[in-house]
Amino acid sequence: MNNWLNSAIVYEIYPQSFNDTNGDGIGDLRGIIEKLDYIESMGFNVIWLNPINESSFRDGGYDITDYYKVDPRYGTNEDYRELCNAVHARGMHIIFDLVAGHTSIDHPWFIESSKVEKNEYSNRYIWTENVCEGGPGVSGYAQRDGVYIQNYYWCQPALNYGYAHPQAPWQLPVTHPDCVATKEELKKIIYFWMDMGVDAFRVDLAPTLIKNDFDGSFTKAFWHEIRSCIEAKNPECLLISEWGKPALAIDTGFHGDFLLHCCHPAYTSLFRHEAGRNVISQYIGHSYFDQDGKGNINDFLDHFLEQYEQIGERGVIGLISGNHDIPRIGYRRTQEEMKLVMLFLFTMPGVPFVYYGDEIGMDYMEGLPSKEGGYIRTGSRTPMQWNDEKNRGFSTSDTPYLPTDEREGAPTVSSQLADDNSLLLFVKKLAMLRKENPELSGVSDLNILMPGYPFVYERTVNGKTFFIAMNPSKYTHYYDMPELKNVIASQHVERDGKHLVLNGVSFIIAEKHV
Ligand code: NOJ
Repeated sequence: MNNWLNSAIVYEIYPQSFNDTNGDGIGDLRGIIEKLDYIESMGFNVIWLNPINESSFRDGGYDITDYYKVDPRYGTNEDYRELCNAVHARGMHIIFDLVAGHTSIDHPWFIESSKVEKNEYSNRYIWTENVCEGGPGVSGYAQRDGVYIQNYYWCQPALNYGYAHPQAPWQLPVTHPDCVATKEELKKIIYFWMDMGVDAFRVDLAPTLIKNDFDGSFTKAFWHEIRSCIEAKNPECLLISEWGKPALAIDTGFHGDFLLHCCHPAYTSLFRHEAGRNVISQYIGHSYFDQDGKGNINDFLDHFLEQYEQIGERGVIGLISGNHDIPRIGYRRTQEEMKLVMLFLFTMPGVPFVYYGDEIGMDYMEGLPSKEGGYIRTGSRTPMQWNDEKNRGFSTSDTPYLPTDEREGAPTVSSQLADDNSLLLFVKKLAMLRKENPELSGVSDLNILMPGYPFVYERTVNGKTFFIAMNPSKYTHYYDMPELKNVIASQHVERDGKHLVLNGVSFIIAEKHV
């Protein structure tokens, strides 16, 4: 892997909740530009913004009405260009969220497509032949007779890239000129944002574009074609999928994919099984990073190692602290527990993706009414907590996008910058460690010494070995004393003669004598 993703430390920003500079209560691009110093100084070298295109905001911006325009709530296209330039001036990279599979029902293409009269956009979306003919879609929406196939929510009609194996007359083959036209439009959109300065695309719902693709071969041909077009224009520009099957995604043409992601069993087995964290009903059981010590790290490793070995050096696995779709990792976790989580994400092979606010351990806000299609996800999208000023420094407005966490003791950037022992400064330390040892990231050697409580492993980089041990449980565990030379950080760890004593919620990271 010799691209920049291998040494990336990504910071995901939900733009409406990050920093509002014009006082309208909604975060904006200028607000992100203003905070680049902060982001860079914490060690992040890549930012990923959730969609910034013009939208009807029935799904937080994942319902686009104009692919070529920044939504006015965030600023202008020029602001975006300026953001890209400012990112590049710092030697950083920027990832664009590409919602390739669907638009909003308010997109002009869809309005045209809904008409009875045939026009250029009649087949831009997938419509059955009459309203009685079902499918995973919405019927009786328009004068046009037919059901439109939805890609996600009802307001997100699927764009028509065609069917690998059509099974009805209205299912057009991928070679149909109207499906090819949709693909060509996607290329135009990609080129447009590449010209703006984008360094990578995170492709929303990446496997869903071609329908009835039972063995994935058409999807593979599709993304390889897109990748060649991107490479021809700029070989440094990369593709990251929202898929959840990294080995398959990388075979399909992507440079990286997420393993820890939404309701993926690898993610829940680490962080979200415990009934007490039961924000979403399927998170029941015991996860590894719980103090009850009843989780099993092998539930994660079984998924992870299989993917890691299949991928080799061909791509990277994204390891998320969280994202805009799931309960925050800080929910019901102490700052000490959070340090173990971050140590894990920053020292396992792969690329850490830190969701804004997780670096200070922001909480999931329970019981908020759904905002712009957020539903249960709304509690993970509350404004960034910068300081103790109005709205935690996010906005001067009396009506911020979502309420800020005003509880006493809620973490803020300013309080954590002033505390040497804070989670934020620990994250910064880990980020700097990765930067100084770039091969510690992405794909260098992983040697698992003990897959349990404690979880003990080594990473070897250019002849240098890092030793990592962690015990998320509340019980004390022992490990034969290794020969350590330089302890980089530790928490609740002691030495007793021959052993490392890992007390409850403890960790150590050190360089090892080899
Ligand atoms: C995945 C995105 O992460 C999520 O927020 C969105 O609702 C769906 N895709 C649909 O675009």
